[in-house]
Amino acid sequence: MADKGRIIAITGKGGTGKTVVSTLFVRFLSEQDVPLAIDADPASSLPAALGIEVNRTIGDLREEIAQPSAIPFDQSMPTDMMLERKIGELLVNTPDFSILTMGRSEGPGCYCLINDILRHAIDRFSKRFATVVIDCEAGLEHLSRRTMRDVDTLIVVSDPTMRGIKTAGVIREISDKLEISFGKIYLILNKADDEERAFFEDKIKEVGVELIGVVPQDANVKAFDKIGKPLIDLPDDSPAVVAVRDIVERLGLMRE
Ligand SMILES: Nc1ncnc2c1ncn2[C@@H]1O[C@H](COP(=O)(O)OP(=O)(O)OP(=O)(O)O)[C@@H](O)[C@H]1O
Ligand SMILES: [Mg+2]
Repeated sequence: MADKGRIIAITGKGGTGKTVVSTLFVRFLSEQDVPLAIDADPASSLPAALGIEVNRTIGDLREEIAQPSAIPFDQSMPTDMMLERKIGELLVNTPDFSILTMGRSEGPGCYCLINDILRHAIDRFSKRFATVVIDCEAGLEHLSRRTMRDVDTLIVVSDPTMRGIKTAGVIREISDKLEISFGKIYLILNKADDEERAFFEDKIKEVGVELIGVVPQDANVKAFDKIGKPLIDLPDDSPAVVAVRDIVERLGLMRE
């Protein structure tokens, strides 16, 4: 096995379906390995979508480290190792997948330290897990901070709106400018029907990203979210589940 896992980051404009797509990626990847899911959104909705309760986040660890009165790390251990152990303690492990949650910064503090810890975690854990799926915060924050600099596959999720598609174009431009070398950048058109696919196909090409698949409106997704039922438990034949399985296969992420 390669020493580095495959890192897949799911990004895009707010509310386009990043968390739904991330959840289903984790579900399919866990059929063959134990992937690591990373919730990189301070608003944190991936754990609930995966049916997991998380008690401690990178935000909490940041508070601990940034306290003026913080007890210094164990002096007998190198800081790097200590930090890795501390991040390791934040993981919630299930037989199917593990999850790490970024969480929030309390008070007005900036996100520099949280992002540094997150980058460090992605770097370290990508060697330990076969695959890492990162549910990003909406917008360009993680790109401009280069938190995602080592991503193999960047997925932009868009709804069938020009704003969503343009965001994908901006993400591609920024990654070119910042010289973030993604292995590949793809677009998933979510909540769209055939007519919308036909309408947006050329526009997606124009912004320079490859359309990897279309996910239809799925009444089950809406119904599950309405009552807060974990999306990972969506039925196998639910339209969004079928469509995302197809995408994961097309990306070559399923063995066989
Ligand atoms: N294929 C779909 N069919 C029906 N509803 C969907 C579908 N995909 C997403 N939704 C709905 O759209 C809303 C946004 O989805 P989701 O939370 O996954 O988006 P997001 O991009 O993660 O949002 P945020 O930017 O707030 O993190 C939710 O209410 C979800 O139920
Ligand atoms: Mg989300």
